[in-house]
Order: sequence, then structure tokens, then C-alpha cells
Amino acid sequence: MTETPNSKAGLQDVIATVSGICFIDGEQGVLSYRGFDIHDLAEQTSFEEVCFLLWYGRLPTRAELGNLESEFAQSRTLPENILRLMRSLPLANGMDALRTLASALAHTDPDAANNSPEANQRKAIRLTAQLATLVATYGRFANGGAPIEPDPAIGHAANFLFVLTGERPDALAARAFDVALILHADHELNASTFAARVAAATLTDMHSAVVAGIGTLKGPLHGGANADVMRLLLELGAAADPEQIETAIRERLTRKEKIPGFGHRVYRTEDPRATHLRRMSAELGARAGQPQWYDMSRRIEAIVAGEKGLNANVDFYSASTYYALGIPIDLFTPVFAVSRIAGWTAHILEQHANNRLIRPRADYTGRLYPQAFVAIDQR
Ligand SMILES: CC(C)(COP(=O)(O)OP(=O)(O)OC[C@H]1O[C@@H](n2cnc3c(N)ncnc32)[C@H](O)[C@@H]1OP(=O)(O)O)[C@@H](O)C(=O)NCCC(=O)NCCS
Repeated sequence: MTETPNSKAGLQDVIATVSGICFIDGEQGVLSYRGFDIHDLAEQTSFEEVCFLLWYGRLPTRAELGNLESEFAQSRTLPENILRLMRSLPLANGMDALRTLASALAHTDPDAANNSPEANQRKAIRLTAQLATLVATYGRFANGGAPIEPDPAIGHAANFLFVLTGERPDALAARAFDVALILHADHELNASTFAARVAAATLTDMHSAVVAGIGTLKGPLHGGANADVMRLLLELGAAADPEQIETAIRERLTRKEKIPGFGHRVYRTEDPRATHLRRMSAELGARAGQPQWYDMSRRIEAIVAGEKGLNANVDFYSASTYYALGIPIDLFTPVFAVSRIAGWTAHILEQHANNRLIRPRADYTGRLYPQAFVAIDQR
């Protein structure tokens, strides 16, 4: 196939759908869910409240939030056959396992084949509740632990850390993880949400659309970047000397290598999510007695800003935040999915509510048409 420069690649700035879920102003650094500023949501809500907001379009009353929390609590426990399947998988890549297990959940869901709005709302709650237990339990298995039953008395973020570590997190850790979940819950037509919407627009079922999202999130240009950031910090950590760090980053930039956790298709300012994650990385790192990852991140941030004019994105400080919370690196991208499931399912519900098949066209750059056909024996 002939390759030609194609300004259309990447669909940059293309308006591909209408949506009332997430508003981003990349020039001003604004992110809002259903019109509510991300800073207000990060400071004053819980992940459960944000789920309600994304799915139903408004903030819940106390009673409505209580109902949703109960529904989450009732849905968190994983079916035994999912645990059996998890045990049979190689414990090598959290995103591969999540992709397989999220797909398998469809076989246990009483509404799997029901594509009605009511059934899809029930599935959105179940999938969000189950994915957290799934990822945390996978993390336990990978560390040689046995599964732990989620605790109905504690919230979603605290349950994740409890099932992962076997210890109830203190208020600071639980709140930090809650805020991280809020910040990652939705982001307009990011690649995985777009993939989920394209799948949903064929009127396939919710689990299939979510699996499309998970497969897309895995890539290093998308959700995979947070794990790559931590690997970079650990690699540079052996040196730990500020000058060596500076040299290493500059050399990478000279080689035209991308530094994970920097740059964004939409934001031309600081990613508003990074503001909160930077603060949490500093606080949690100092508390864990590991301030070096935050310090190193600050240095890298200054170099990349100075050399390339690029800002840290959501993945840069989430890496050291998760590390300080004791989350294994292989779970960083699955943790992104534990949050983004709220956005994926909100977009699938919205897509189904006003559906039209998503089927764009390509700017053809192949051989000139028509080519003279040559029979196989004459070629
Ligand atoms: C997010 C990202 C995929 C956006 O991609 P994009 O809009 O297609 O932008 P491009 O990849 O075309 O980058 C534009 C320019 O900035 C440079 N650039 C972008 N991100 C960079 C990074 N993280 N490190 C170094 N240079 C970077 C590119 O090399 C390119 O430079 P050039 O014009 O000299 O060739 C890209 O910034 C990236 O790969 N970042 C690293 C991965 C990451 O953190 N992903 C998570 C996103 S939330």
C-alpha cells in the first residue's frame, strides 16, 4: 500500500458525535462532568457520587447516593467461576487478564443479553462494582494471596485497597484513591471511550463494548502510560543524582523518544487532573518515606517543559501516587479501567439512547482505480 502524508490521521479536532457527559476546554484547561468543574468534584464528592452524575446526568440526593452505594455493595462479590478462571490465567499482565475476565463476566450477568435501558443501567452498576474487585483480587493472586470478600461497610475506593492489601486503608489513603478514581472517571471522546461508543453503536451488548474499551486503554499512548512512567522513574532511580536524571531525559528527547506522562491531544495548558495528582504524589510519597519519586518527577517535569514545552498529563503523577499507595505497577493501567468503567458505561447508555451506526469514510490513498486484473498464473 502506498503511504502518503495524511493530515486526517488521528481525527484531531474532528467532532465525531454529540454528547452531554463531559466538557473539555483544552485552551483554558477546563474539565467538567455534566457541567460540574473537576476541581469541585475532586474536592467535594466521592467516586460513587460521580458515577451517579455520569449515568443519570445530575448529582444525587443523600438517599439516592445511599441506594447506589447499597447496590454497589451487593454487586462487588465475584462469582466463583470468575475466580476459577482468574486462577487459571498466567499472572503476567493485568490488562490482558482484565480484558478476558471482563468478557467472562457477561456469562455470569443475568442481564447479559438484555439491551434495554433499564438492564444497561443495572449492568453499568454491576460492571463498575465488579471491575474493582476483579483488579484488586487479581493483584492479590499475583502476590500469592487468597481472595478477600469486599466489606459492605466501606466505600468503593477503600474496598479496592482492602481487597488488594488485606488491610483496611486509613482515611488519607482511601480518600487519595477516591480522588484518583474521580479524576479518571471520564474524559470525553478519549480513544477507549470512542472505541466503546463505536462498538455500542452497532447495538452490541454492554460487556462487548466495555471489552473494546479495555483493549484500547491498554496501549502505551493511552492508559498504558502510567505504568511506563513508574518504570522510567525506577530505571532512573538507580542513578538518583539530579544531573544524571537531567542527562538521561535530555538524551531521550534528543533521540526523539517520548517521555511517558507528557503531552496531550486536547490540553494546551496543564491537565487539570495533574494538579490534584501532583499534590497527592507529594503527600503520599512523604508519608510513605519515599519522597524521591515525587522529587524526581518534579525534575523531569521541569526538563520536559523547558525542552519541549509539554505539560504533565493525568498519567505522570498518578504513577508515583499509586506507587506510594502500595499498588503494584502491573495494576496501574487496570486501575485506570476501574475508574473509566464509569465513563465508558455512561457513554454506552448515551449512545444507545440516541443511536446511529458510527461508520466514517477513509481518504483512499491506495493504487489508482481501476487496475488491470492479472490472473494468478500470469503474475
Ligand atoms: C498523548 C499523545 C499520544 C498525544 O499525541 P498527539 O496529539 O498525536 O501528538 P504527537 O505524538 O503528534 O506529538 C506532537 C509533537 O510533540 C512531541 N511529543 C508529544 N508527546 C511527547 C512526549 N511525551 N515526550 C516527548 N515528545 C512528545 C512529539 O514527538 C511531536 O514532536 P514533533 O512535532 O517534533 O514530531 C502524546 O503526547 C504521547 O505519546 N504522550 C506520551 C504517552 C502518554 O503519556 N499518553 C497518555 C496520554 S493522557
